[in-house]
Amino acid sequence: MKGKLITFEGIDGSGKTTVASLLHEKIGKDAILTAEPTSSWLGECVRRALEEERDAVTIALLFLADRNEHVKEIVRYIEDGKIVICDRFIDSTFAYQKEHLKIENAEEWLNIVHKPFLIKPDLTFLLYIEPEKAIERIKERKLAIYEYVEFLRKVQENYMEIAQRDKNRVIIIDATKRPEEIVEECIKILRERGII
Ligand code: TMP
Repeated sequence: MKGKLITFEGIDGSGKTTVASLLHEKIGKDAILTAEPTSSWLGECVRRALEEERDAVTIALLFLADRNEHVKEIVRYIEDGKIVICDRFIDSTFAYQKEHLKIENAEEWLNIVHKPFLIKPDLTFLLYIEPEKAIERIKERKLAIYEYVEFLRKVQENYMEIAQRDKNRVIIIDATKRPEEIVEECIKILRERGII
C-alpha cells in the first residue's frame, strides 16, 4: 500500500514542531518525521540566507531548491508505504514568500516555479494562534527575519485563504491547547480519514 503525506503548518511560535514530533512518537515505526528547511546542506543554505537577510527572491529560490530535493525523498518514502510527517511544506512557501516577495504576481510566480515538483499533502494540520501570543511564546530566543507580529498576521491571513480554498485537505487546529490534546485530535482525524 502507498504511504501518505501529512504536513504541519502554522506561523512561527504555533508549536507545530512539538506536535509533529509527538505525533511521530505516537504513530511509531511506520512514520517518518521530516521538516523544512531540511537538515541537508540545501536546508543549511536556506537558514544562512534567512540569517543574513538576503534578498527575498534569493530566499524563495533556496526554499524551492531545498523542496525539490526533499520531494524526491518524500516520494520514495510514500512509495515504500510510509506515513511521512513533515513540519512545514508547500503552504509555508505560499503563506510566507507570497508576503516577503515584493514582486508583481508573487503567487503566480511561485506556482510556475514550483509546478514541476509540486506534490500535495494528503492532509495538513494548520495550527492557529494569534500572532501576539505566538511571539510571546518565542520572544526569549533571538527572533528571526519573519518573527514580528505585523508580518505573521499577513502570513496567517495567507494560511487562512489556503485553508478556505482547500477545506478538505487543511484542518485548522487551535494551537493554544496543550500539545498532548492537539495530538489526540490529530490522531482522531487521521483515523477518521483512514490514514492510520
Ligand atoms: P522553522 O522555524 O519552522 O524551522 O522555519 C524557519 C522559517 O522559514 C520560518 O520563519 C518559516 C520560514 N519558511 C518560509 O518562509 N518558507 C518555506 O517554504 C518554509 C519551509 C519555511
